[in-house]
Amino acid sequence: MTDASRSPLIVALDYPSAGPALALARRLSPELCRLKVGKELFTAAGPDLVKALVDLGYSVFLDLKFHDIPHTVAKACQAAARLGVWMLNVHALGGQAMLETARQAVSESDVPPLLVAVTVLTSLTQKDLIRLGIIGTPADAVLRWAHLARECGLDGVVCSAEEASMLRRECGPGFCLVTPGIRPADAAQDDQQRVATPAQALAVGADYLVIGRPITGATDPEQALRKILSDLKQGI
Ligand code: C5P
Repeated sequence: MTDASRSPLIVALDYPSAGPALALARRLSPELCRLKVGKELFTAAGPDLVKALVDLGYSVFLDLKFHDIPHTVAKACQAAARLGVWMLNVHALGGQAMLETARQAVSESDVPPLLVAVTVLTSLTQKDLIRLGIIGTPADAVLRWAHLARECGLDGVVCSAEEASMLRRECGPGFCLVTPGIRPADAAQDDQQRVATPAQALAVGADYLVIGRPITGATDPEQALRKILSDLKQGI
């Protein structure tokens, strides 16, 4: 795993092209944060951009949520590991065989990244789960799929801060919890429904916090990032 940072903050580079993503990466630093590349940026700018961010010294979370037959996902995970990313993810709904095959493939990489599973997307409601034939509340499904991911040897899951304390309790201290939906107390909520401040998310057991627009949309992104880190130090 290429882990150049000790920061718990992962800045989501949600941009339509490489230019603004690289510009922001050059204004920030690997000591202050890690970076997340998601579907939009990866589809537009591809592996070269990921490699450029790794070459700048960043720990990169490749957030492509792989979900396919086991062989295809395993090969995709290996290709991602070859880019030198620090973390990558698959979708827990791919099932046991897909998760185990992904685990095996990542472990065989020269430098294995952390492998985490997406559980219930935070955009899905109870009504959506019923239409999909998934029983129980969203929290029940998150817990079931987190247990499955853990049993398949994954390093952790992506979850909302609301589920973090339950998962920390149920899945133990070594299980990595990555939480999006993070908003500093004075930031706009945007389209996120269930938000927590950085300090609240860490307090309930999150290991890493994904933050996008409060930093990427700030007039001075570096200052916004430093303010979040300093608030965290003070427990705000
Ligand atoms: O700008 P904002 O802080 O809302 O960005 C959050 C990031 O985390 C986005 O890249 C979004 O796709 C991602 N994410 C999320 N909720 C999830 C999984 C990922 O917001 N459940």
